[in-house]
Amino acid sequence: MDLGMSDGPFTGYRQKLLEHASGHVLEIGIGTGLNLPFYGPDVQKLSGIDPNPGMSSILKKRTDHGYPFEIDMKQGDATNLPYADASFDVVVSTWTLCSVTPAGRALEEIARVLVPHGKFLFIEHGLSPDRGVGWIQNVLTPVQKCIADGCHLNKPISEMIASSPLETTSLETFYMEKVPRFGGYTFMGIAQKQTDR
Ligand SMILES: C[S@@+](CC[C@H](N)C(=O)[O-])C[C@H]1O[C@@H](n2cnc3c(N)ncnc32)[C@H](O)[C@@H]1O
Repeated sequence: MDLGMSDGPFTGYRQKLLEHASGHVLEIGIGTGLNLPFYGPDVQKLSGIDPNPGMSSILKKRTDHGYPFEIDMKQGDATNLPYADASFDVVVSTWTLCSVTPAGRALEEIARVLVPHGKFLFIEHGLSPDRGVGWIQNVLTPVQKCIADGCHLNKPISEMIASSPLETTSLETFYMEKVPRFGGYTFMGIAQKQTDR
């Protein structure tokens, strides 16, 4: 996973999304820490959480390189975040919600730990609006879940965010270059915590 997601088109998307990160940031599904080089000078502290201990040795090597912000890592699940309400200015999820079940619960948790009007930055693959591609995604998802650690190809990411206590303020959808269309339909955007929900 680390090799496959470390270069090519992934790098440009990480850079573009993470330039919006600032203050105290939480990254869910931080994995091997591939986003670390893309956090800019406005980030004061990074908290990361991931349930998979297999990722942590590579992550540790990356964090040992030293970054100009404090880093705090925890093992845990995005559906039950071990942080107090309104702890973070920004929450980041990159190619993670596909593996989180139920993702709606994780979105509620993200909203809970964000400060009022805090930002959720996301880039996720999910269900294509093209019927042929969507059909293949639905057929392949049971196999994908088994071979790729619970990853679903067919989550309707923008609909899930719309039904959560977060409001999308910017969204781009596209097929990622150099990725098969069934795995590459992408939602990249920013959502904000709503204070009246
Ligand atoms: C495809 S990897 C992406 C890793 C990283 N976000 C990146 O952009 O390189 C998906 C990550 O989600 C993590 N993950 C799976 N289930 C999770 C859950 N319930 N809560 C938080 N993270 C989870 C996995 O352990 C893995 O690190």
